[in-house]
Amino acid sequence: MTHNQGILDSLSTGVIALDEHLRVIALNAAGQALLETSEARAIGSGASELVVDSQEWLDTLQQVLKTNAAKAARSVYLKLPSGQEIHVDVIMTPALDGDTGFSLLVELMAVERLLKISRDESQVTAQETSRAVIRGLAHEIKNPLGGVRGAAQLLARELPNEELTEYTRVIIQEADRLRDLVDRLLGPSRALELETLNIHEILEHVRGLINAESGNTVSVVREYDPSLPEISCDRTQLIQAVLNIMRNALQAASSPADCKIRLRSRAQRQYTVGAVVHRLVCRVDIIDNGPGIPAGILPAVFAPMVTGRARGTGLGLSIAQSIINMHGGVLECESQPGDTRFTFYLPMEAQHEQAS
Ligand SMILES: Nc1ncnc2c1ncn2[C@@H]1O[C@H](COP(=O)(O)OP(=O)(O)O)[C@@H](O)[C@H]1O
Ligand SMILES: [Mg+2]
Repeated sequence: MTHNQGILDSLSTGVIALDEHLRVIALNAAGQALLETSEARAIGSGASELVVDSQEWLDTLQQVLKTNAAKAARSVYLKLPSGQEIHVDVIMTPALDGDTGFSLLVELMAVERLLKISRDESQVTAQETSRAVIRGLAHEIKNPLGGVRGAAQLLARELPNEELTEYTRVIIQEADRLRDLVDRLLGPSRALELETLNIHEILEHVRGLINAESGNTVSVVREYDPSLPEISCDRTQLIQAVLNIMRNALQAASSPADCKIRLRSRAQRQYTVGAVVHRLVCRVDIIDNGPGIPAGILPAVFAPMVTGRARGTGLGLSIAQSIINMHGGVLECESQPGDTRFTFYLPMEAQHEQAS
């Protein structure tokens, strides 16, 4: 046993062994460090005492026990009693035979902070590149377009009969359509108009809009953290961002009545955006149970003009992302059938510390 314990303790993965009532039988050193507890304190206590507000995870543990089938969950956030949140990948394995002494083995792997930083940075660089390309293109399109439109207007005045102006009208109309498209591609052009407000006010407003759009058939479950402090943000633009995300969920569902959306908010400490460490960020998850984002477009889902819908513009998410970025935040997405989540993080304080 001590030999096994030595092996367990030298792992960098946190390991928790649980009995059939989800009580802790063993917890290795990495697990103690992750969960900020000692083995003495943890042993005999329930898994539900190791974490708070993590019902979803506890349900999964129960399910693994019941179905006797191992399960992996990526990118899980568990809140510790201290209020600290940990970000882990989890593997849950049921004991296959009776005499192993445990019923369930849980492996917790901390998601590397560095991985996160580099991902954010590459995301930011990719966005900057695509915005630069769009700006260049927009300029090249808008100038000649203005010429085409002006010439069509002059031509309309010179035309000998009214019927022919139908053609110039089409030219002007299509030129305007193209100009609008280019403007939308350029994204929100006005600066942020900041006010201090509660993020839940924005979420509730959008929930009302989505309810109205779906004739009150969508089910929206709210898991708000009522203790979240107010943030400084542009109300109209944030509403637009959240609406774009929620509307996609509604449109992806086979029918509005099948559409379940979860809106979750919470505070998260020490979050890194690019190279900036924020002491406290507001995190919002928008989770739907729809078919998921088609695998072919998932990697580029935030890029403008990437769409999976016949009549889509592919601009909704790119605009949402620009808005969140303008607030100094990050918008991320993970998707699989039945579980699509968009997560955004907004810094809560104005002063940022530089990451060392
Ligand atoms: N919640 C979601 N579920 C399934 N697919 C989604 C979801 N959100 C976005 N998508 C996919 O991403 C694409 C891009 O979305 P978006 O940028 O809003 O543009 P549009 O809605 O105009 O297509 C959508 O066409 C859809 O295929
Ligand atoms: Mg959309």
